[in-house]
Amino acid sequence: MLKKIINKVKEFDTVRDEDRRSNKLYGKAALYNTPNEITLAAAEVAGKGYKNFDVYTPYPMHGMDDAMGMPPPKIGYVSFIFGITGTGLALLMMIWMSSINYPNIIGGKPFFGLPGAIPITFESTVLLCGIATVLGLIILFSKMPKLNSPLNNTEFMSRVTSDKFGLVIQADDEKYIEDEVLKLFSETKAFEVQDIYYRESNLIQKTPLFDWRFTAAIIGTALITAVVSYVTLNYVLYETVPFNWMWKQGRIDAQSRSDFFPNKSGMRDPVTGTVARGFMPYEYAGMPDSAVKLLSNPVAVTKKSIERGQERFNIYCSPCHGYFGDGDGRLRDQFPKPPSLHNQKVKNWSDGNIFHVITNGQNVMPSYAEQVSKEDRWAIVNYIRALQRAKDASEEDLEKAK
Ligand code: HEC
Repeated sequence: MLKKIINKVKEFDTVRDEDRRSNKLYGKAALYNTPNEITLAAAEVAGKGYKNFDVYTPYPMHGMDDAMGMPPPKIGYVSFIFGITGTGLALLMMIWMSSINYPNIIGGKPFFGLPGAIPITFESTVLLCGIATVLGLIILFSKMPKLNSPLNNTEFMSRVTSDKFGLVIQADDEKYIEDEVLKLFSETKAFEVQDIYYRESNLIQKTPLFDWRFTAAIIGTALITAVVSYVTLNYVLYETVPFNWMWKQGRIDAQSRSDFFPNKSGMRDPVTGTVARGFMPYEYAGMPDSAVKLLSNPVAVTKKSIERGQERFNIYCSPCHGYFGDGDGRLRDQFPKPPSLHNQKVKNWSDGNIFHVITNGQNVMPSYAEQVSKEDRWAIVNYIRALQRAKDASEEDLEKAK
Protein backbone atom coordinates (compact mmCIF):
# COMPACT_ATOMS: atom_id res chain seq x y z
CA MET A 1 0.00 0.00 0.00
CA LEU A 2 2.84 2.35 0.91
CA LYS A 3 4.38 1.72 -2.48
CA LYS A 4 1.18 2.69 -4.19
CA ILE A 5 1.04 5.96 -2.30
CA ILE A 6 4.66 6.74 -3.06
CA ASN A 7 4.05 6.03 -6.72
CA LYS A 8 1.07 8.28 -6.69
CA VAL A 9 3.08 11.11 -5.17
CA LYS A 10 5.87 10.55 -7.69
CA GLU A 11 3.44 10.56 -10.54
CA PHE A 12 1.94 13.78 -9.28
CA ASP A 13 5.37 15.34 -9.18
CA THR A 14 6.57 14.27 -12.60
CA VAL A 15 3.50 14.90 -14.70
CA ARG A 16 3.51 18.59 -15.39
CA ASP A 17 0.22 20.42 -15.11
CA GLU A 18 0.65 21.55 -18.67
CA ASP A 19 -0.15 18.00 -19.70
CA ARG A 20 -3.47 18.18 -17.92
CA ARG A 21 -4.45 21.49 -19.36
CA SER A 22 -7.87 22.44 -20.65
CA ASN A 23 -8.53 24.70 -23.61
CA LYS A 24 -9.28 27.71 -21.51
CA LEU A 25 -6.44 30.24 -21.54
CA TYR A 26 -5.32 31.59 -18.15
CA GLY A 27 -2.88 34.11 -19.55
CA LYS A 28 0.34 34.78 -21.38
CA ALA A 29 3.66 34.40 -19.59
CA ALA A 30 6.86 36.10 -20.69
CA LEU A 31 10.37 35.29 -19.55
CA TYR A 32 13.14 37.86 -19.20
CA ASN A 33 16.85 37.51 -18.64
CA THR A 34 17.79 40.37 -16.36
CA PRO A 35 16.28 42.17 -13.38
CA ASN A 36 16.55 45.40 -15.26
CA GLU A 37 14.45 44.13 -18.15
CA ILE A 38 11.74 42.78 -15.89
CA THR A 39 11.53 46.05 -13.94
CA LEU A 40 11.17 48.05 -17.14
CA ALA A 41 8.66 45.53 -18.51
CA ALA A 42 6.57 45.70 -15.32
CA ALA A 43 6.52 49.50 -15.48
CA GLU A 44 5.53 49.32 -19.15
CA VAL A 45 2.68 46.86 -18.51
CA ALA A 46 1.40 48.89 -15.57
CA GLY A 47 1.67 52.05 -17.65
CA LYS A 48 -0.47 50.52 -20.38
CA GLY A 49 -3.25 50.10 -17.80
CA TYR A 50 -3.23 46.33 -17.26
CA LYS A 51 -4.57 45.29 -13.89
CA ASN A 52 -4.51 41.48 -13.76
CA PHE A 53 -0.85 40.83 -14.14
CA ASP A 54 1.89 39.67 -11.83
CA VAL A 55 5.65 39.43 -11.77
CA TYR A 56 7.63 36.38 -10.64
CA THR A 57 11.29 36.65 -9.67
CA PRO A 58 13.69 34.19 -8.07
CA TYR A 59 14.35 36.65 -5.22
CA PRO A 60 12.62 39.78 -3.84
CA MET A 61 13.43 42.84 -5.93
CA HIS A 62 13.65 46.38 -4.68
CA GLY A 63 11.55 48.86 -6.58
CA MET A 64 9.27 46.21 -8.08
CA ASP A 65 6.22 47.43 -6.13
CA ASP A 66 6.72 50.92 -7.53
CA ALA A 67 7.33 49.65 -11.06
CA MET A 68 4.11 47.58 -10.90
CA GLY A 69 2.23 50.59 -9.55
CA MET A 70 1.19 48.75 -6.39
CA PRO A 71 -0.32 50.78 -3.56
CA PRO A 72 1.49 50.74 -0.19
CA PRO A 73 0.84 47.46 1.66
CA LYS A 74 -2.03 47.38 4.15
CA ILE A 75 -0.53 44.69 6.40
CA GLY A 76 0.38 47.45 8.90
CA TYR A 77 -3.29 47.91 9.76
CA VAL A 78 -3.68 44.22 10.51
CA SER A 79 -0.57 44.24 12.73
CA PHE A 80 -1.77 47.35 14.55
CA ILE A 81 -5.31 46.13 15.19
CA PHE A 82 -4.16 42.75 16.48
CA GLY A 83 -1.35 44.32 18.52
CA ILE A 84 -3.82 46.64 20.27
CA THR A 85 -6.16 43.69 20.76
CA GLY A 86 -3.30 41.80 22.47
CA THR A 87 -2.63 44.76 24.76
CA GLY A 88 -6.30 45.07 25.68
CA LEU A 89 -6.85 41.36 26.23
CA ALA A 90 -3.77 41.01 28.46
CA LEU A 91 -4.76 43.99 30.61
CA LEU A 92 -8.37 42.87 30.88
CA MET A 93 -7.26 39.36 31.78
CA MET A 94 -4.98 40.58 34.55
CA ILE A 95 -7.45 43.12 35.90
CA TRP A 96 -10.13 40.46 35.95
CA MET A 97 -7.92 37.81 37.55
CA SER A 98 -6.26 39.90 40.22
CA SER A 99 -9.02 42.28 41.23
CA ILE A 100 -12.31 40.59 40.33
CA ASN A 101 -12.03 36.85 40.13
CA TYR A 102 -9.39 36.24 42.77
CA PRO A 103 -8.56 39.41 44.68
CA ASN A 104 -5.72 38.62 47.06
CA ILE A 105 -4.15 41.10 49.44
CA ILE A 106 -0.39 40.87 48.93
CA GLY A 107 1.70 43.14 51.12
CA GLY A 108 -1.07 45.74 51.17
CA LYS A 109 -0.52 46.55 47.53
CA PRO A 110 -3.31 47.47 45.10
CA PHE A 111 -4.96 44.46 43.48
CA PHE A 112 -3.91 45.55 40.03
CA GLY A 113 -0.63 47.34 39.39
CA LEU A 114 0.36 48.55 35.95
CA PRO A 115 4.18 48.25 36.33
CA GLY A 116 3.94 44.56 37.17
CA ALA A 117 1.49 43.99 34.33
CA ILE A 118 3.74 45.50 31.66
CA PRO A 119 5.80 42.37 30.78
CA ILE A 120 2.74 40.20 30.14
CA THR A 121 1.01 43.02 28.26
CA PHE A 122 4.10 43.44 26.12
CA GLU A 123 4.39 39.72 25.42
CA SER A 124 0.74 39.41 24.50
CA THR A 125 0.91 42.45 22.22
CA VAL A 126 3.92 41.07 20.39
CA LEU A 127 2.40 37.59 20.20
CA LEU A 128 -0.89 38.62 18.62
CA CYS A 129 0.75 41.21 16.41
CA GLY A 130 3.37 38.73 15.19
CA ILE A 131 0.98 35.91 14.47
CA ALA A 132 -1.51 38.21 12.77
CA THR A 133 1.22 39.75 10.62
CA VAL A 134 2.61 36.42 9.45
CA LEU A 135 -0.76 34.77 8.87
CA GLY A 136 -2.18 37.97 7.39
CA LEU A 137 0.67 38.20 4.91
CA ILE A 138 0.43 34.58 3.89
CA ILE A 139 -3.32 34.02 3.86
CA LEU A 140 -5.01 37.42 3.45
CA PHE A 141 -2.59 39.22 1.19
CA SER A 142 -0.79 36.46 -0.69
CA LYS A 143 -3.82 34.13 -0.71
CA MET A 144 -1.59 31.17 0.01
CA PRO A 145 -1.48 28.26 -0.23
CA LYS A 146 -2.57 28.56 -3.85
CA LEU A 147 -3.11 24.87 -4.44
CA ASN A 148 -5.04 25.49 -7.59
CA SER A 149 -3.12 28.20 -9.40
CA PRO A 150 -2.69 27.30 -13.08
CA LEU A 151 0.92 28.46 -12.75
CA ASN A 152 1.77 25.74 -10.26
CA ASN A 153 4.01 23.02 -11.57
CA THR A 154 4.61 24.63 -14.98
CA GLU A 155 7.77 25.07 -16.98
CA PHE A 156 7.36 28.80 -16.45
CA MET A 157 7.38 28.39 -12.65
CA SER A 158 10.45 26.22 -12.70
CA ARG A 159 12.32 28.90 -14.67
CA VAL A 160 11.30 31.88 -12.54
CA THR A 161 12.08 30.08 -9.31
CA SER A 162 15.58 29.40 -10.55
CA ASP A 163 17.26 32.09 -12.65
CA LYS A 164 14.78 33.84 -14.92
CA PHE A 165 12.32 36.67 -14.43
CA GLY A 166 8.73 36.26 -15.48
CA LEU A 167 5.63 38.32 -16.09
CA VAL A 168 2.11 36.99 -16.58
CA ILE A 169 -0.79 38.95 -18.01
CA GLN A 170 -4.07 37.21 -17.36
CA ALA A 171 -6.50 36.68 -20.20
CA ASP A 172 -9.38 38.01 -18.13
CA ASP A 173 -7.84 41.47 -17.98
CA GLU A 174 -10.12 44.10 -19.50
CA LYS A 175 -7.34 45.32 -21.76
CA TYR A 176 -6.24 41.87 -22.88
CA ILE A 177 -5.89 41.65 -26.64
CA GLU A 178 -3.58 38.90 -27.76
CA ASP A 179 -1.70 40.80 -30.46
CA GLU A 180 -1.07 43.77 -28.25
CA VAL A 181 0.19 41.63 -25.40
CA LEU A 182 2.56 39.83 -27.73
CA LYS A 183 3.75 43.13 -29.12
CA LEU A 184 4.30 44.47 -25.64
CA PHE A 185 6.34 41.41 -24.72
CA SER A 186 8.58 41.64 -27.72
CA GLU A 187 9.06 45.39 -27.23
CA THR A 188 10.18 44.78 -23.68
CA LYS A 189 12.70 42.15 -24.84
CA ALA A 190 11.06 39.02 -23.53
CA PHE A 191 13.05 36.07 -24.84
CA GLU A 192 10.24 33.58 -24.56
CA VAL A 193 6.44 33.72 -24.35
CA GLN A 194 4.27 30.84 -23.15
CA ASP A 195 0.56 30.26 -23.00
CA ILE A 196 -0.74 29.16 -19.62
CA TYR A 197 -3.99 27.18 -19.59
CA TYR A 198 -6.37 26.29 -16.84
CA ARG A 199 -6.31 22.62 -15.88
CA GLU A 200 -8.84 20.22 -17.30
CA SER A 201 -10.36 19.60 -13.86
CA ASN A 202 -9.98 20.79 -10.36
CA LEU A 203 -6.49 19.76 -9.40
CA ILE A 204 -7.21 19.78 -5.70
CA GLN A 205 -9.11 16.54 -6.07
CA LYS A 206 -6.05 15.01 -7.65
CA THR A 207 -3.51 15.97 -5.04
CA PRO A 208 -2.44 12.96 -3.00
CA LEU A 209 -3.63 14.81 0.10
CA PHE A 210 -7.18 14.02 -0.94
CA ASP A 211 -6.50 10.38 -1.67
CA TRP A 212 -8.10 8.40 1.16
CA ARG A 213 -5.03 6.18 1.63
CA PHE A 214 -2.76 9.17 2.01
CA THR A 215 -5.13 10.76 4.51
CA ALA A 216 -5.44 7.49 6.38
CA ALA A 217 -1.65 7.21 6.56
CA ILE A 218 -1.37 10.71 8.05
CA ILE A 219 -4.14 10.14 10.58
CA GLY A 220 -2.66 6.75 11.44
CA THR A 221 0.77 8.26 12.05
CA ALA A 222 -0.76 10.92 14.27
CA LEU A 223 -2.64 8.31 16.29
CA ILE A 224 0.39 6.07 16.75
CA THR A 225 2.53 9.05 17.81
CA ALA A 226 -0.12 10.10 20.33
CA VAL A 227 -0.41 6.64 21.84
CA VAL A 228 3.36 6.14 22.04
CA SER A 229 3.84 9.56 23.67
CA TYR A 230 1.04 8.91 26.12
CA VAL A 231 2.41 5.56 27.19
CA THR A 232 5.99 6.82 27.36
CA LEU A 233 5.20 9.91 29.40
CA ASN A 234 2.62 8.38 31.72
CA TYR A 235 3.94 4.91 32.32
CA VAL A 236 7.50 4.33 31.14
CA LEU A 237 9.09 7.59 32.31
CA TYR A 238 6.82 7.86 35.32
CA GLU A 239 8.11 4.58 36.70
CA THR A 240 11.80 5.25 36.11
CA VAL A 241 13.64 7.64 38.39
CA PRO A 242 16.03 9.48 36.15
CA PHE A 243 18.42 10.69 38.85
CA ASN A 244 18.67 9.05 42.25
CA TRP A 245 22.14 9.87 43.58
CA MET A 246 20.71 12.45 45.95
CA TRP A 247 18.63 10.09 48.00
CA LYS A 248 21.05 7.20 47.60
CA GLN A 249 24.04 9.02 49.09
CA GLY A 250 25.25 7.96 52.52
CA ARG A 251 24.30 10.31 55.33
CA ILE A 252 23.72 10.25 59.07
CA ASP A 253 20.61 11.60 60.72
CA ALA A 254 20.93 13.76 63.82
CA GLN A 255 21.24 11.75 67.05
CA SER A 256 21.98 8.56 65.14
CA ARG A 257 24.86 6.13 65.48
CA SER A 258 27.86 6.10 63.16
CA ASP A 259 30.50 3.42 62.92
CA PHE A 260 32.80 5.84 61.18
CA PHE A 261 33.95 7.59 64.37
CA PRO A 262 35.62 5.81 67.27
CA ASN A 263 33.01 6.98 69.79
CA LYS A 264 30.19 5.77 67.47
CA SER A 265 28.45 9.14 67.68
CA GLY A 266 27.16 10.61 64.43
CA MET A 267 27.15 14.14 65.77
CA ARG A 268 30.47 15.87 66.25
CA ASP A 269 31.49 18.46 68.80
CA PRO A 270 33.49 21.43 67.58
CA VAL A 271 37.21 20.85 67.89
CA THR A 272 38.34 21.97 71.36
CA GLY A 273 39.51 25.54 71.47
CA THR A 274 37.87 26.59 68.20
CA VAL A 275 35.23 29.25 67.82
CA ALA A 276 32.57 29.07 65.15
CA ARG A 277 32.37 32.07 62.86
CA GLY A 278 30.09 34.75 64.34
CA PHE A 279 29.82 32.93 67.71
CA MET A 280 32.32 34.70 69.93
CA PRO A 281 31.77 33.16 73.35
CA TYR A 282 30.80 35.45 76.22
CA GLU A 283 33.73 35.62 78.58
CA TYR A 284 31.63 36.08 81.76
CA ALA A 285 29.07 33.42 80.94
CA GLY A 286 27.43 32.11 84.13
CA MET A 287 29.44 34.34 86.44
CA PRO A 288 27.90 36.62 89.11
CA ASP A 289 27.73 40.30 88.20
CA SER A 290 30.43 41.11 90.75
CA ALA A 291 32.89 39.40 88.38
CA VAL A 292 32.10 41.82 85.57
CA LYS A 293 34.79 44.43 85.81
CA LEU A 294 36.51 44.93 82.50
CA LEU A 295 33.53 45.01 80.14
CA SER A 296 33.33 48.44 78.48
CA ASN A 297 30.75 49.71 76.02
CA PRO A 298 32.13 49.58 72.44
CA VAL A 299 29.04 51.19 70.87
CA ALA A 300 29.25 55.00 70.79
CA VAL A 301 26.35 57.00 72.19
CA THR A 302 24.89 58.38 68.97
CA LYS A 303 21.35 59.22 67.88
CA LYS A 304 21.47 56.17 65.65
CA SER A 305 22.58 53.72 68.35
CA ILE A 306 20.03 55.09 70.85
CA GLU A 307 17.23 54.78 68.31
CA ARG A 308 18.32 51.24 67.52
CA GLY A 309 18.42 50.52 71.23
CA GLN A 310 14.93 51.96 71.67
CA GLU A 311 13.55 49.81 68.89
CA ARG A 312 15.11 46.59 70.31
CA PHE A 313 14.17 47.54 73.90
CA ASN A 314 10.53 48.06 72.89
CA ILE A 315 10.50 44.65 71.24
CA TYR A 316 12.41 42.52 73.74
CA CYS A 317 12.38 44.29 77.10
CA SER A 318 9.21 46.38 77.27
CA PRO A 319 6.87 43.38 77.74
CA CYS A 320 8.24 43.05 81.31
CA HIS A 321 10.08 46.30 82.02
CA GLY A 322 7.53 48.64 80.41
CA TYR A 323 8.28 51.17 77.70
CA PHE A 324 10.09 53.47 80.12
CA GLY A 325 11.81 50.85 82.30
CA ASP A 326 9.46 51.37 85.28
CA GLY A 327 8.82 47.63 85.64
CA ASP A 328 5.15 47.97 84.63
CA GLY A 329 5.20 45.97 81.40
CA ARG A 330 2.26 44.29 79.72
CA LEU A 331 3.17 40.92 81.27
CA ARG A 332 2.97 42.22 84.86
CA ASP A 333 0.15 39.78 85.70
CA GLN A 334 1.82 36.75 84.10
CA PHE A 335 5.44 37.14 85.13
CA PRO A 336 7.27 38.28 88.27
CA LYS A 337 7.34 42.06 88.17
CA PRO A 338 10.92 43.25 87.51
CA PRO A 339 12.41 46.08 89.54
CA SER A 340 12.49 49.56 88.02
CA LEU A 341 15.54 50.23 85.90
CA HIS A 342 15.64 53.66 87.50
CA ASN A 343 16.70 52.37 90.92
CA GLN A 344 19.94 53.62 92.38
CA LYS A 345 21.63 50.23 92.00
CA VAL A 346 21.21 50.02 88.23
CA LYS A 347 21.99 53.71 87.86
CA ASN A 348 25.31 53.18 89.61
CA TRP A 349 26.08 50.04 87.59
CA SER A 350 28.64 50.21 84.84
CA ASP A 351 27.37 49.69 81.26
CA GLY A 352 29.08 46.30 81.37
CA ASN A 353 26.89 45.26 84.28
CA ILE A 354 23.64 45.90 82.43
CA PHE A 355 25.09 44.13 79.40
CA HIS A 356 25.91 41.20 81.64
CA VAL A 357 22.29 40.90 82.83
CA ILE A 358 20.95 40.92 79.27
CA THR A 359 23.55 38.41 78.11
CA ASN A 360 23.60 36.12 81.08
CA GLY A 361 20.13 36.59 82.52
CA GLN A 362 19.53 37.21 86.22
CA ASN A 363 17.51 34.93 88.47
CA VAL A 364 14.07 34.61 86.75
CA MET A 365 15.00 36.88 83.86
CA PRO A 366 16.31 34.69 81.03
CA SER A 367 19.30 35.42 78.84
CA TYR A 368 18.57 37.43 75.72
CA ALA A 369 21.88 36.56 74.03
CA GLU A 370 20.09 34.33 71.50
CA GLN A 371 17.55 36.94 70.43
CA VAL A 372 19.54 40.16 70.59
CA SER A 373 22.90 40.54 68.87
CA LYS A 374 25.90 41.69 70.86
CA GLU A 375 25.90 45.09 69.23
CA ASP A 376 22.19 45.57 69.80
CA ARG A 377 22.62 44.68 73.47
CA TRP A 378 25.07 47.55 73.86
CA ALA A 379 22.68 49.81 71.95
CA ILE A 380 19.94 48.83 74.43
CA VAL A 381 22.30 49.78 77.26
CA ASN A 382 22.73 53.20 75.66
CA TYR A 383 18.97 53.56 75.46
CA ILE A 384 18.49 52.55 79.12
CA ARG A 385 21.02 55.26 80.04
CA ALA A 386 18.96 57.77 78.04
CA LEU A 387 15.79 56.64 79.84
CA GLN A 388 17.47 57.03 83.23
CA ARG A 389 18.69 60.51 82.41
CA ALA A 390 15.29 61.54 81.07
CA LYS A 391 13.55 60.29 84.22
CA ASP A 392 15.16 62.95 86.40
CA ALA A 393 16.40 65.45 83.88
CA SER A 394 18.41 68.37 85.18
CA GLU A 395 17.54 72.03 84.55
CA GLU A 396 20.27 72.03 81.95
CA ASP A 397 18.84 68.99 80.10
CA LEU A 398 15.40 70.59 79.96
CA GLU A 399 16.93 73.76 78.60
CA LYS A 400 18.69 71.76 75.88
CA ALA A 401 15.53 69.81 75.00
CA LYS A 402 13.68 73.01 74.14
C1 HEC B 1 10.15 38.04 80.71
C2 HEC B 1 10.23 39.32 81.38
C3 HEC B 1 11.49 40.11 81.21
C4 HEC B 1 12.03 40.53 80.04
C5 HEC B 1 11.47 40.33 78.63
C6 HEC B 1 13.22 41.26 80.38
N1 HEC B 1 13.41 41.30 81.69
FE1 HEC B 1 14.90 42.22 82.66
N2 HEC B 1 14.19 41.50 84.36
C7 HEC B 1 13.06 40.75 84.57
C8 HEC B 1 12.92 40.40 85.93
C9 HEC B 1 11.76 39.59 86.48
C10 HEC B 1 14.03 40.93 86.58
C11 HEC B 1 14.37 40.80 88.01
C12 HEC B 1 15.27 39.55 88.15
C13 HEC B 1 15.76 39.34 89.52
O1 HEC B 1 14.95 38.92 90.31
O2 HEC B 1 16.95 39.56 89.76
C14 HEC B 1 14.81 41.60 85.59
C15 HEC B 1 15.96 42.27 85.82
C16 HEC B 1 16.63 43.08 84.92
C17 HEC B 1 17.75 43.93 85.25
C18 HEC B 1 18.38 44.04 86.59
C19 HEC B 1 17.55 44.96 87.45
C20 HEC B 1 17.97 44.93 88.87
O3 HEC B 1 17.62 45.87 89.56
O4 HEC B 1 18.63 43.94 89.30
C21 HEC B 1 18.10 44.58 84.12
C22 HEC B 1 19.20 45.58 83.92
C23 HEC B 1 17.21 44.12 83.10
N3 HEC B 1 16.34 43.21 83.63
C24 HEC B 1 17.27 44.52 81.78
C25 HEC B 1 16.50 43.95 80.80
C26 HEC B 1 16.67 44.26 79.42
C27 HEC B 1 17.66 45.27 78.82
C28 HEC B 1 15.79 43.50 78.73
C29 HEC B 1 15.59 43.42 77.24
C30 HEC B 1 16.69 42.84 76.52
C31 HEC B 1 15.05 42.72 79.71
N4 HEC B 1 15.53 43.01 80.94
C32 HEC B 1 14.05 41.83 79.41
C33 HEC B 1 12.16 40.39 83.57
C34 HEC B 1 12.37 40.58 82.23
